[in-house]
Amino acid sequence: MYEWWQRGVVYQIYPRSFQDSNGDGIGDLPGIISRLDYLVDLGIDAVWICPIYPSPMADFGYDISDYRNVDPQFGTLADLDRLIAELHRRNLKLILDFVPNHTSSEHPWFQASRRSRHDPKRDWYIWRDAKDDGQPPNNWLSEFGGSAWTWDEDTRQFYYHAFLAQQPDLNWRNPRVREAMFDVMRFWLARGVDGYRVDAIHLLVENESLPDNPPNPDWHAGMSPARRLLRMHTADLPDTHALIPEMRKIADEFTARVLIGEASVPVERLKHYYGQALEGFQLPFNFHLMRTPFEALPIASLIRRYEAALPPGGWPNWVLGNHDRSRLRSRLGGAAQSRLAAVLLLTLRGTPTLYYGEEIGMGDVVVESDAVRDPWERNVPGLGLGRDPCRTPMRWSAAAGAGFTSGVPWLPIGGNLDERNVATQRDDPSSFLSLYRNLLALRRAEPALHVGEYREVWVDEQCLVYERTQDARRLLVALNFSDTSCPLPAQEPLRACLSTHAPVRTAEQKSTLLPFEGIILEPCN
Ligand code: NOJ
Ligand code: CA
Repeated sequence: MYEWWQRGVVYQIYPRSFQDSNGDGIGDLPGIISRLDYLVDLGIDAVWICPIYPSPMADFGYDISDYRNVDPQFGTLADLDRLIAELHRRNLKLILDFVPNHTSSEHPWFQASRRSRHDPKRDWYIWRDAKDDGQPPNNWLSEFGGSAWTWDEDTRQFYYHAFLAQQPDLNWRNPRVREAMFDVMRFWLARGVDGYRVDAIHLLVENESLPDNPPNPDWHAGMSPARRLLRMHTADLPDTHALIPEMRKIADEFTARVLIGEASVPVERLKHYYGQALEGFQLPFNFHLMRTPFEALPIASLIRRYEAALPPGGWPNWVLGNHDRSRLRSRLGGAAQSRLAAVLLLTLRGTPTLYYGEEIGMGDVVVESDAVRDPWERNVPGLGLGRDPCRTPMRWSAAAGAGFTSGVPWLPIGGNLDERNVATQRDDPSSFLSLYRNLLALRRAEPALHVGEYREVWVDEQCLVYERTQDARRLLVALNFSDTSCPLPAQEPLRACLSTHAPVRTAEQKSTLLPFEGIILEPCN
């Protein structure tokens, strides 16, 4: 009665950084295929791979110049077909990125569109005249710095781009654009892809009359310059919500497919991405854990707010890291905190998405300014916005190139390689990898964890305790967010099934939580 995307755990791969197979320092599809048994052993259920389509790589694949092929850096269509087959043979699902908001400026559609004002593809993008003084049509800002409008000298108009100038926004009000993009969706679904993570969905459609966005009273130096303005007329508009069920209809032409929406909106707005009758995305991403202080009270209150904001029957999901955010270990301040976060992520109600490398406790890698690759860091340097540090190569071993590449990796491998790699951690019961493997195995074995009800049992400044139940089975999760021990707030004798501090099953009764300890417990009788 539950779908695979409800029961399972999604593992996110940044393809440039997972496994290089040909020594060019860039991860690729044959590389991923060679590591599938690792993913089986880890115990995840679905793999989401960031864009692998032909791209000039201005935004490392989020600028697509051909929606129906594979970039040669990553391999071939035949490799993709083989990846699908090899995943399915192992009972794993494949989720690809669908990037509907923008193409690359090198996509033939945009090349045609910019050729002349009268080209049939002109209206596939968002072109507007300059103001009388030659300025852009309004004050809208690009996420990656500067105006969201770029002047085209040949045809003497501006085009709109929510991201880089090399990522012009498609005009989703044009029915021909919609049909073309729906056909792109069908192309990969028909090849056997199990679903999409839909990029930047909240930015799909803008206010057609182009009013200025108002200033953001909470903006301060140090924040992204794009946040100087509230995105009142550029994000989360009703016209965008109305298009989501259309995408869902395409996915539903096939069986058992999932759509995950990258909707970066407040908890209370997520319902618009599910649709009133759940006719929208099955899983609008919930990024709020990444924005909430890693403390018991704020997290408990977030869980309450999120659960309360879900539309009836809407399935929850949780994200703690991705290719746009600082890694857990660096963000939360240490290994103990990130181990605790693993227990949280994998025991909350709803589908978790796990970012590659977190399972071996990778942290952000320092990328020197001459090695910066991310266009955001290049455009808006020094504010810590750059995403290279969380996109560095997966560490398979302590060998040169970390077992990732025999060549020069596209981003640095970073320090602490001896300890933070798969080979070293594989047989160490106290390692990050063992903790994740045990957590994933327990989550899979226990319906209470993967589909059970959630109930808050206790929360104070130090710790949070909740219960997950399914039929007669009841498990408790106790998380100590502080650096001091505390008594386990429990009204009955409990024994640990798994702990961040002793990740093997112990029959022992527990009454104390160690600093930053996370435990999954069962009643003694
Ligand atoms: C969100 C993606 O996660 C990010 O990596 C990308 O730069 C933007 N969308 C633009 O596609
Ligand atoms: Ca390669």
